[in-house]
Amino acid sequence: MAFDFIAPALDKRRNEGLFRTRKAIDSASGPLIEIAGQHYINFSSNDYLAMRRSTVVAQAWVDGISEYGGGSGASPLVTGYSNAHQALEEYLASELKRDKVLLFNSGFAANQAICQALYNHKYANSTDVILADELMHASFNEGAQACKATFMRYKHNSFEHLQSLLHSSDGHKSQSTLVATEGVFSMDGDQAHLDKMVTISQSANAWLMVDDAHGFGTLGKNGRGVIEANSLSQQQVPIVMATFGKAIGTAGAFIAGSQDFIDYLINFARHYIYSTAMPAAQAYATLASLQAKQNAERRVLLADRIALFKSLASKAGLTLMPSETAIQPLVIGDAQQALDVSEKLKSLGLWVTAIRYPTVPKGTDRLRITLTAGHEERDIHALVDALQLALADN
Ligand SMILES: Cc1ncc(COP(=O)(O)O)c(C=O)c1O
Repeated sequence: MAFDFIAPALDKRRNEGLFRTRKAIDSASGPLIEIAGQHYINFSSNDYLAMRRSTVVAQAWVDGISEYGGGSGASPLVTGYSNAHQALEEYLASELKRDKVLLFNSGFAANQAICQALYNHKYANSTDVILADELMHASFNEGAQACKATFMRYKHNSFEHLQSLLHSSDGHKSQSTLVATEGVFSMDGDQAHLDKMVTISQSANAWLMVDDAHGFGTLGKNGRGVIEANSLSQQQVPIVMATFGKAIGTAGAFIAGSQDFIDYLINFARHYIYSTAMPAAQAYATLASLQAKQNAERRVLLADRIALFKSLASKAGLTLMPSETAIQPLVIGDAQQALDVSEKLKSLGLWVTAIRYPTVPKGTDRLRITLTAGHEERDIHALVDALQLALADN
């Protein structure tokens, strides 16, 4: 029978406690979400600055729709590219001190496009090398795996391992080596040590690429992410990618780089060329979110909430991972137990999703707690109290 692997694959997932389902959110207000008639404080959102439902973003979407309509109507090289897209690209390029920026419909598409455009053309081959941190996001890894280049993963944040792989790939006489890392790691919340990575990449004549999906909006004086926080130039980090679906509160993504690199993507990145452009209203709302005056105070609020959570958790004897960011994971170590703790938290009115293998390595199943500027201090107290109860029961 055709596709007869589907049913056993699902059964295996169920038996291993790894089966995934979705829950439809009925409504959301502040940090609260309503699901099936119950309200929960949401600690599983990437809306770090609580911009998603802000008046600024909502009004800009409405204004954008009345100006540009619901969709963009065509791919960007046909007639889908508008002055709203252009304004957002130019603003980002100037903020990040890059020559040019290109918008994508999602971070997933942007990461795949980088891999495809750089390594799936007639001149690419297995002597080209992609080296990525082992915790790099699936959207990049799968793009890299589908390439002609040799794809290797170095141990998380390990300069030694990165250097040894770069060294071993010297024999490849690669002309085109890419070193890829996340700015803030999505499941661990820790950060890449970018200064050192710049030095290592430059000495190997490799390009460094940073996926800053989780740093963009929250880090740096103006919220422009790890690039701003570490004052990294285009020459030091030739490829910057980030998404708008997290701290910016809209959706979509961008890649920033040199004039030539972006022109190359416009000409060769299939995910860009053969996909309807993001709605202009979305670009318009995204620019409004980036320029919103309240961002600075929301970053301060977020930092307060992170500090409060860390201090209360430490007093309560909870062992967190070493993270200074809004992502504060608590490793449970077993998929079923992580689910049980998450269910217990739900019964106490808190939504904290369990993240399990294969999203995270086996044996590191965890609660991925995320804090936002929308949380009140009392929400953080409630979280730590509930965690103590749920873990004691487990
Ligand atoms: C590190 C990282 N890169 C890329 C993506 C993909 O971005 P998008 O959700 O815009 O597709 C995500 C998450 O969604 C992510 O966490």
